[in-house]
Amino acid sequence: MYRTKTCGELRLLNVGEEVVLAGWVQKARKMGGMTFVDVRDRYGISQVVFNQDVNVTLCEEANKLGREFVVRVTGKVQERSSKNSHIPTGDIEIIASDLKVLNVAATPPFTIEDETDGGDDIRMKYRYLDLRRNVVRQNLELRHKMTLEVRSYLDSLNFLEVETPVLISSTPEGARDFLVPSRMNPGQFYALPQSPQTFKQLLMVSGFDRYFQIVKCFRDEDLRADRQPEFTQIDCEMSFVDQEDVLTTFEGMTKHLFKTIRGVDVETPFKRMTWHEAMKLYGSDKPDLRFGMEFVELMDVLKGHGFSVFDDAAYIGGICAEGAASYTRKQLDALTDFVKRPQIGAKGMVYARVEEDGTVKSSVDKFYTQDVLQEMKSAFDAKPGDLILILSGDNAMKTRKQLCELRLEIASQLGLRDKNKFACLWVVDFPLFEWSEEDQRFYAMHHPFTSPKSEDIPLLDSDPGAVRANAYDMVINGVEVGGGSIRIHDSALQNKMFELLGFTPERAQAQFGFLMNAFKYGAPPHGGLAYGLDRWVSLFTGLDSIRDCIAFPKNNSGRDVMIDAPSTIDPEQLEELSIKVEVKE
Ligand code: AMO
Repeated sequence: MYRTKTCGELRLLNVGEEVVLAGWVQKARKMGGMTFVDVRDRYGISQVVFNQDVNVTLCEEANKLGREFVVRVTGKVQERSSKNSHIPTGDIEIIASDLKVLNVAATPPFTIEDETDGGDDIRMKYRYLDLRRNVVRQNLELRHKMTLEVRSYLDSLNFLEVETPVLISSTPEGARDFLVPSRMNPGQFYALPQSPQTFKQLLMVSGFDRYFQIVKCFRDEDLRADRQPEFTQIDCEMSFVDQEDVLTTFEGMTKHLFKTIRGVDVETPFKRMTWHEAMKLYGSDKPDLRFGMEFVELMDVLKGHGFSVFDDAAYIGGICAEGAASYTRKQLDALTDFVKRPQIGAKGMVYARVEEDGTVKSSVDKFYTQDVLQEMKSAFDAKPGDLILILSGDNAMKTRKQLCELRLEIASQLGLRDKNKFACLWVVDFPLFEWSEEDQRFYAMHHPFTSPKSEDIPLLDSDPGAVRANAYDMVINGVEVGGGSIRIHDSALQNKMFELLGFTPERAQAQFGFLMNAFKYGAPPHGGLAYGLDRWVSLFTGLDSIRDCIAFPKNNSGRDVMIDAPSTIDPEQLEELSIKVEVKE
């Protein structure tokens, strides 16, 4: 028998029991005639004691143990004289009567502890060792619990989990596809799904009524902390629903997950904000509402006073950081450097402090009278001790986005982004289209299957940019955890949408003919949404990146450094696939 107990379960009430444990040597230390070995498994750590006075040979064997050796130990549980309150098994130890080395281990390239000395690259290369660390394993345990809860919650509401294929043709979600060559159809490729969007809509046509799937999606896009090339969605769709039904259903599920996984009560219904409002007040379609600091537009107040930067601006806006007037010149310079970083791109930052006597002192005092500065103070409803930060620019949208970064940065500095506080929000009424300056054409903001608001349908021809969609995102703490829409279920409107998106009728037919055909056979009104499971787990675990919520993630260049993928392919394999590779310089 390898074990009778796990390394995490023994307590004082087990004292006197004879037990067998199996696990990895976390650490072995010799102190006089005693050797203490910490044996670790998934459930915890137990201290095993080898006493030279009792069994010299056994003690000598224990002294030869290296880190991460796999062992089986037999012994009697005894109360510890010096207890360790940091671990649940800290009241007991096992007095060893037998030791068997089940496998030796090379010295690991980093310490397998919560606080490891291994950098990111080395941890990813030896991910199987990294996964032995409590902190990483716990994230995966939470992920497991979440998917269990999701399945049971949705099952209780009659949702049916249906698997959809992975070798498909393109599903446009705005990223590039990963392609898979077909050996049996030379020169032809499958695409890996960016989402199961079209399939879940077909399931509604099939009458499945309520579908969900916890499903891998693949997107070839630039990676960030919250993006992986393969990630998991909790993908859902419902028939005979309007937007309100979808929002209510998934608020319910979100509330349930908060309660069961985090023990947190979140209030429903969630706050709602239109996309336009979110962009105006926070410069983002995923505002972090754990704190205020809404933007205040200052065009009327600050333009036309001889300060050319503002006089020439298309947008001037600011935020007020409560109690931050104590920011030193050095801190303010650092904030200015922050907004001037190339990835943010502001030209500069103006600041104003509200002094204890109520007067305002700004970095552009020579252009503004105290009266104007007081008017600005009133616009923010600023109090003595507050700090006002202002950005301007010749493109309102760009400047708002810069101000959004500044808002998040100063909020982080002021400790306003508490990971144990949650602010849930629906952003609704997204524009249906997004104009691309570069390509001089419209793209679907969500995807081409999203329906326009019925009252905006007349604008489809005259002013497509102004059409609002029945689309919504769930945003928690500034993270877009999910998004969806009410779909078009009418083939004529769907064809119109393809036309507006620049598809020729032939291309639309070739790419989406199956869906258009299906819609001819009685498509019910339907809608749904998809959550990003990885993002949600990272939100619940308080991690800044989704990587540690995924067992075997890719690095920022999309590589799995452990298995060294992607890799080149043998010429014979390429030949079989009728593929010739030419790598561009
Ligand atoms: P969307 O593209 O908004 O919608 O994706 C849904 C959610 O998936 C998560 N997500 C990602 N997570 C990690 N890495 C990525 N690269 C990544 N991309 C997206 C986000 C996002 O909110 N078919 C539609 C859903 C629908 O309309 O029902 C869709 O895929 O959390």
